[in-house]
Amino acid sequence: MLHPFATDRQIGSVYRVDAEGAEVTLPRAAARPQMHLGQRVPRGEVAEFVVIDVGGFGIVGRIREVWVSANERKRVADGIDPATPIAPLGAVQLLATLRLDGTHIRGIEKYPRLGDPVYSAPPDVLEALISEAAEDGGPRLSIGTLANDDQVSVEIDPSRLFGRHLAVLGATGSGKSWTVAHLAEGIQGIGGNLIIVDATGEFHTLGGSTTHVSVSSTELSLPHTDMDEADLTAFLRPSAGSQLPKLREAIRSLRLAELIGADHPLVDERGLIHKADKRRSDFYDLQTEHADAVERAGSKFNLRLLGEQIECECIWAHDRYNDALFGGPELNGLGYCVSLITRIQDLIQTPEIIEIVSPFTERASVIGAIDSFLADAEKNVLCISLKDLPFVHYMREITVNAIGRHLLSLARSGKFRPNPLVVAVDEAQQFFGRVIGDEIITTRLEHFEAIAKEGRKYGLTVCMATQRPGDLPSGVLSQAGMLLVHRLGHGRDRKYIEEASSELDRSATQLLPGLTPGEAVLVGVDFPVPISVRIAAPLRKPESEGPNYRAGWQASPTQD
Ligand SMILES: Nc1ncnc2c1ncn2[C@@H]1O[C@H](COP(=O)(O)OP(=O)(O)O)[C@@H](O)[C@H]1O
Ligand SMILES: [Mg+2]
Repeated sequence: MLHPFATDRQIGSVYRVDAEGAEVTLPRAAARPQMHLGQRVPRGEVAEFVVIDVGGFGIVGRIREVWVSANERKRVADGIDPATPIAPLGAVQLLATLRLDGTHIRGIEKYPRLGDPVYSAPPDVLEALISEAAEDGGPRLSIGTLANDDQVSVEIDPSRLFGRHLAVLGATGSGKSWTVAHLAEGIQGIGGNLIIVDATGEFHTLGGSTTHVSVSSTELSLPHTDMDEADLTAFLRPSAGSQLPKLREAIRSLRLAELIGADHPLVDERGLIHKADKRRSDFYDLQTEHADAVERAGSKFNLRLLGEQIECECIWAHDRYNDALFGGPELNGLGYCVSLITRIQDLIQTPEIIEIVSPFTERASVIGAIDSFLADAEKNVLCISLKDLPFVHYMREITVNAIGRHLLSLARSGKFRPNPLVVAVDEAQQFFGRVIGDEIITTRLEHFEAIAKEGRKYGLTVCMATQRPGDLPSGVLSQAGMLLVHRLGHGRDRKYIEEASSELDRSATQLLPGLTPGEAVLVGVDFPVPISVRIAAPLRKPESEGPNYRAGWQASPTQD
């Protein structure tokens, strides 16, 4: 049983009502803040929650504006004399209906009437409103406290927070990474499963049951056998006209060379297949025999030979005099492929790249690391650092896409239904539905977008963090069932959020520019009211290993 209508919490009365809100008197709104028995005495401030006693129900609302009448403004400017109080007024947005047994419903069951008393919402009412009925005993994730009342802790059922994807939004420096770290610690606390795709390496501080891995030329690999056609196309960027078919043929030939071995007469000592002037049927019979493996994206080939093999493919389809033979080199075709061959040669001479994508390595693949993590019941969090991945050739986007594809295929096979998995992706706008290429050929790296659209029914959901929600592919943000919105200035991104989330009512978006680091507005599809939360700081703070100006520059020799 709740007692929201305690006399000492009354802050005013209703004097005007329309369909969206009520206007109320707030006689104490201009008084100095006071503490009583360790609690703030409520007065009626912007963003404060109130309960209006409408007889039998409480209507929960939030104060969105406070003002004084025109003829009292000068007195406010001059400094208020406590002996002759002024009469501030406030506008309250009506949000939900509270029954006195503690249950609540969205929407307004009964509108306030003139003179109805307005109370500052006490902590237990707010807790009842934010948290589900406490009896069900399931685990709760503690997020923090209400921003304007640290007596009220905000604890959320993880299935509500992550069950339909969570978006963590806000400008740079508004607290997104700390929030993700805090959630990661919370997930560990309740024995959940989380994979963090850590673009900058700042989550290396996470402790407890966290496994840290890194994709780089000396640690985990991403062999091209774990890429699909879209990844490979994004990686090598052939033009659609003549380069793409030659690239495909060269890859098929190299796969065949791996399958039949270097001893085969068609394969030279280095592993290339020279078709020129050879009998066509010799080659095509073999290719038909091994068709499955030759066409399969996961089949090995020697990437280091790819440039040269493309050159070998630039031949006439038939010999001029004998149709049964391949022809000789065709220089026009080769000319068209030169830029692709150069790009590939350049790439294989870059150790930071070839060491990651070559399938001929002893090092484990990031895909294998995910499987071992999922098999290890002791570990709750897998943190995959992309810090040492080069920014060239879309290596980062391709790596994340490959991770997404693997997770999605595990999800479709039913793996996460009994034991749901959350994947957190910072800088999500870089990785969701990224389109790569130019006017000639474009590739869409779409697996994370697909997770956002269909992962939920398989128990695979994402926690996407971004400072540029407007750059996410359309439709992704609206899949999120919960938004944690940190400080966000005016402009395009905020408008985008307002549009994408019908739930984020105006009174909540108005708070966004004024939030301090670590404060966020929490909105959810089945969350009764948007609330502003002060998110608890993580025990282990994320820490990017950026350049250290303070220590580095002070230590410079000219200083001594
Ligand atoms: N929950 C929090 N409590 C207190 N301070 C915070 C909190 N979250 C963030 N901050 C402060 O804001 C800074 C930036 O946070 P960070 O998470 O790195 O921002 P973002 O990832 O959005 O760029 C932190 O270094 C910290 O000082
Ligand atoms: Mg960050």
